[in-house]
Amino acid sequence: MYWSYKNFVIHQFSELESTNKTAFELASNHTLSDREIILAKKQSAGRGRMSRNWSSPEGNLYFSILLKPQKNLSELNQLSFVGIVALHLAVRNSTMKWPNDLLINQKKVAGLLLESKINQKNCDFVVVGIGVNIASNPSQTIFPASNLHECGIEITPEDLLKKFLDEFENLYQNWLDFGFAKTRRIWMQNAHKLNEEIKCGDDFGVFLGIDEDGNLLLKKDERISKISVADVS
Ligand code: BTN
Repeated sequence: MYWSYKNFVIHQFSELESTNKTAFELASNHTLSDREIILAKKQSAGRGRMSRNWSSPEGNLYFSILLKPQKNLSELNQLSFVGIVALHLAVRNSTMKWPNDLLINQKKVAGLLLESKINQKNCDFVVVGIGVNIASNPSQTIFPASNLHECGIEITPEDLLKKFLDEFENLYQNWLDFGFAKTRRIWMQNAHKLNEEIKCGDDFGVFLGIDEDGNLLLKKDERISKISVADVS
C-alpha cells in the first residue's frame, strides 16, 4: 500500500530485508522517483554502517528516502547530516554523534545509512536510510543503545516519520537552495562531545566539530587533522 504526506509518497511494507536495499533496487529500475519513501514495519536483514547489521524488530521505525539532488558529488555526504539534523529536530532533546548517530542521554537511539549510485561523474540517486529505536533496542552493541520509550517519548513509528518529514522538507530545501551552512550550524550546536577529548579510530584528540564537507576536525598537539566520513565508513 502507499500513501502521501506533503511532497512525499510513502510505500509501506509489513516486512522487507532492508528498506535501503529495496529503495536502491527500485531506483535502479527507474520505478522509484525523487522523494519517494520505502517504509517497513520490520526488516530481516537491516543494514548498518561499516557493513554491520541493524537489528529491526517490529515497533521501531525503518525507512529509506530516494533523492535525486542536483549537486556536486563532493557535496553528497552533507545529505547525511541534513537527514540526522532533521531527525534531531523531530525528536528534540537529543544530541548528534559524528557522523550520523542520534543520542539521548548519551545512548544511541537512531542511525542513518546513506548509499548512492554514481554514474560517471554524476550522482544518479541517493538513498537516505534511517532506523529509529522506538520500542526496543539491541542489547549487545559497541556503543550503548536506548529507545524512545525508555527515554519517556511515546510516539508511533508513523507519527515520527511525519514529524521527521515536516523538518526534512524544510531543511532539505534549504540545503538545495543555500548549501550546508544551516545544517552544519544546527549539527554543531547539538554535537556530542564538542570541544572534548575523543577517540577516533586509533587517534585521540579534541573534537572541534565538522568542516564544510562534514569531515571531523580533531586537534592533537596543536595540529588539526580532518577525518573524512569515507575513512570510517
Ligand atoms: C547505523 O549503522 O547507525 C546506520 C543504521 C541505518 C539503519 C536503517 S533502518 C532503515 C534503512 N534500511 C537499512 O537496511 N538500513 C537503514
